Amino acid sequence: MFDALFNPQSVAVIGASRDPGKVGYAILNNLLSFRYPGQLYPVNSSAAEVLGLKTFPRVSEIRKDVDLAVIAVPARFVPETLIDCAHAGIRAAVIVSAGFREAGPEGMRLEQEVKKISAQQGMRILGPNCLGIINTSNSMNATFAAGMLPRGRFAFFSQSGALGIAILDWAIGNEVGFSKFISLGNKTDLNEIDFIDYFMQDPETDIILGYIEDVVDGKRFLSSASRATKIKPVILLKSGGTEAGARAASSHTGALAGSEVAFHAAFLQSGIIRAQGIEDLFDTALAFSGRKLPRGDRLLIITNAGGPGIIAADTSERLGLRLTQLSKETIESIAGLLPPNASLYNPVDIIGDATAERYAVVLNKAILDPNVDGIIVILTPQAMVDVENTAGIIINTSKATDKPVITSFMGEMRVRQSIEKLKENSIPNFSYPETAVKAFKRLSDYTAWRNLEDEEVTADPRHKGDGDERINAFLSEGRHHLGEDESMTILSRYGFIFPRRELARTSREAAAIAARIGFPAVMKIASPDILHKTEVGGVKLNIRTRKEAEDAFTEITANVKRLMPDTFINGVMVYEMVKTGREVIIGVTFDRTFGHMIMFGLGGIYVEVLKDVSFRIVPVSRREARSMIAEIRTNALLKGARGEKPADTEAIVEGIVNLSNIATDFPVIHELDINPLVVMEKGAVALDARIILERPEAA
Ligand SMILES: Nc1ncnc2c1ncn2[C@@H]1O[C@H](COP(=O)(O)OP(=O)(O)O)[C@@H](O)[C@H]1O
Ligand SMILES: [Mg+2]
Repeated sequence: MFDALFNPQSVAVIGASRDPGKVGYAILNNLLSFRYPGQLYPVNSSAAEVLGLKTFPRVSEIRKDVDLAVIAVPARFVPETLIDCAHAGIRAAVIVSAGFREAGPEGMRLEQEVKKISAQQGMRILGPNCLGIINTSNSMNATFAAGMLPRGRFAFFSQSGALGIAILDWAIGNEVGFSKFISLGNKTDLNEIDFIDYFMQDPETDIILGYIEDVVDGKRFLSSASRATKIKPVILLKSGGTEAGARAASSHTGALAGSEVAFHAAFLQSGIIRAQGIEDLFDTALAFSGRKLPRGDRLLIITNAGGPGIIAADTSERLGLRLTQLSKETIESIAGLLPPNASLYNPVDIIGDATAERYAVVLNKAILDPNVDGIIVILTPQAMVDVENTAGIIINTSKATDKPVITSFMGEMRVRQSIEKLKENSIPNFSYPETAVKAFKRLSDYTAWRNLEDEEVTADPRHKGDGDERINAFLSEGRHHLGEDESMTILSRYGFIFPRRELARTSREAAAIAARIGFPAVMKIASPDILHKTEVGGVKLNIRTRKEAEDAFTEITANVKRLMPDTFINGVMVYEMVKTGREVIIGVTFDRTFGHMIMFGLGGIYVEVLKDVSFRIVPVSRREARSMIAEIRTNALLKGARGEKPADTEAIVEGIVNLSNIATDFPVIHELDINPLVVMEKGAVALDARIILERPEAA
């Protein structure tokens, strides 16, 4: 199928037009003028000839094998056109016509029809509402964009046609080479996942680039992307991140963007490199275009200018890169060949009057130095600097090593030609040292991802016990909130530890239970309907005597009756009071694109204000759980600030993985909170839990 799309022997352009203002003209014109070598069949019911080619009034009249149809007729004629194509044996179509989902209810209806035809006829469809498709290797430009991409090793898919055009133009202007270009349009059939799958195997593609606004199938996306990123870098730009952005995305291509945190997690978990903007997308692609990956993250900076060297060093530190030191042997072998005021530490500063030979002295040794994984060469074009020869030296050294060499030739006029030469030799150059360092960081991160061993996440269904029956019983009563006690029963099967507890129905019972459990005790209102117990005066801590327990019972029930008169109250739960530890929150939420996610953050009253939390998509492995903990800004508090002993983060890891198993075992869970989980020096105890089940109508 992808062969019909990318390498068709023959293309029918349906809706080919004589009017240069029409899309149907532009596409045929592009196919002709960029010399698509296969057969072209323009289909036009009124004109006998378009652009010098004989036309056919309809597809059925072509009577030859046609591999690909490019359809540019008005939206309302598209369904019947597709059926004609199917009857003529055409297996793949690109629909560039607009006027579908993005255009309102009637367009939506038409698009549904297109989808149906695609499924019924087994015909694969790109679009509708797309710009078309380019394959540079067979000179096929089936788009209505102006100009043709240079040949190269990047593949690109774009959900936005307008952005696609801009990127095309940029690539042409900067002579950046592409293997293939896809405009996804409304993704009614083929979507980003199909192209990730295809490009990961495509021998003409080294780097997969894309712009997406949403993802059609979160789970499939994750599994395809995880496989692709182990083979070649996948760099994606995703919009719809901020609230305003998400609205813009839905009014734009009619896309409903998944939530930002879910995408953040999805990209992390599948090794996708996320571009922060269009510029970053290309900077990152440029970094990988050198086709060399560092073995590790030890970066050496060589510079002829102090300031830019320091900026590069600062950036490295900020990004968490290791500024390596040259080995003793290297230093000894080059010290005598450099001026005495040169600095041999990292950044290696060979001084403003550095000759090309001086660069060569350091570079030739640095590429052999076992302490160095990659090199950034900074050059500022002072009058005495031999820019051209330095570029030549860098090119030669780079050829002699498999370590990435990245340059930052700063300036414009005096460096332009040399940058051109560097580019011809696949050496990524960046105008600013910060961007060069960031580029190296992307490379070393990608190496780290590639070196990660897949970690099996194993669930143990024995933990489920009678959980399904219990949950179904709640649902059949029309209840969706499991209170503390019920939640704790399910959670404890998965290894969560709760304080001892017992339900009191009278104040005398409360006193007796408290005495049995031991003072100090904690008492909480027991009602599945109350989500925030403290807010209704439903929690009493530090109860020290029988008398206090009796009073607490009366006070708690009175508080709740006053504030929530209609609420059903089971009684008051008496708990053993737990010694303090670090309070964290772990929980489960449901994302409509990616499914269940696990959340982690420091607990307490500010958790919603600070938003210092991390998410991962289920299933979450132990390694990912550790990275969730490392990801939050206040992570240092767990390590122990101001003389505190560090908290048992492995107990949190355990909790996260257990929650992930629960979410897998019970798809019906919509939300779950353990807040707080108290983490001690050794172990953790959960003090509060709630589970919210999906409402049937939401399923
Ligand atoms: N058994 C306990 N031992 C010690 N502290 C507790 C205990 N149970 C609750 N707490 C403290 O009281 C706070 C509120 O209790 P919680 O059950 O979380 O009620 P809420 O419904 O208001 O979240 C907890 O965040 C925790 O600090
Ligand atoms: Mg709580």
